[in-house]
Amino acid sequence: MRKKINIAIDGYSSCGKSTIAKAVAKALYYFYVDTGAMYRAITLFALQNNCIKKDQTIDEPLLIRLLDHVVVSFKYNTDSGEQEIYLNGVNVEREIRSIQVSNHVSLISAVREVRVKLVRLQKRLAESKGVVMDGRDIGTVVMPDADLKIFMMADADVRSKRRYDELIAAGLDVSLEEIKSNITNRDLIDTTREMDPLRQAEDAVVVDNSNLTIDEQFEFVMAQAVKRIEQ
Ligand code: DC
Repeated sequence: MRKKINIAIDGYSSCGKSTIAKAVAKALYYFYVDTGAMYRAITLFALQNNCIKKDQTIDEPLLIRLLDHVVVSFKYNTDSGEQEIYLNGVNVEREIRSIQVSNHVSLISAVREVRVKLVRLQKRLAESKGVVMDGRDIGTVVMPDADLKIFMMADADVRSKRRYDELIAAGLDVSLEEIKSNITNRDLIDTTREMDPLRQAEDAVVVDNSNLTIDEQFEFVMAQAVKRIEQ
């Protein structure tokens, strides 16, 4: 049997990490873990349970108290062929992509207790190998011993336009300006937060996909993966 490896894909907001991670996981018959979806699910929970105050700051003591009651899990959808995220047993795959969740997720994911809870779960998911996981701290914190680490980046204007097209196609009412402001704001919070900020792992392979097609990125990452599997 072929050796199974773990693949970490980190990078800035909306640079196409999940598209490539999903495609690579499918091609290798690996388990795909979207860690951003996990932070988004806890953000949705925070919004639903009044943990975000009127001035848009977080009621941290309340959120921390309620965290023990939050169960985040993935279930495979046989129709779409994809993992979908559940919050306390309810499928929230669509709700977590709303702009309201996007606007609060970086602040929620900077809360230490939230990170401790989710990183523990992510490490457990990676134990069995054969995992493709994307996020911000996968190669540095969650899977520091991953066999392949990819650090993805793309120009902020390119990322905003791609995200905008995606959300419009999904029927959401958004403007390009609000998308760009959300993306640059999240980049800033994600790279400057105290705990586990987004940074490139020393042994990561950098992919700047500003001028690459999805196929080109997929081929590149697959070639890197196959090289490690055959090593
Ligand atoms: O990948 P995404 O855009 O869905 O992630 C949403 C937010 O979650 C992102 O702005 C920062 C946070 N996040 C994180 O802090 N650590 C991760 N491993 C993944 C996401």
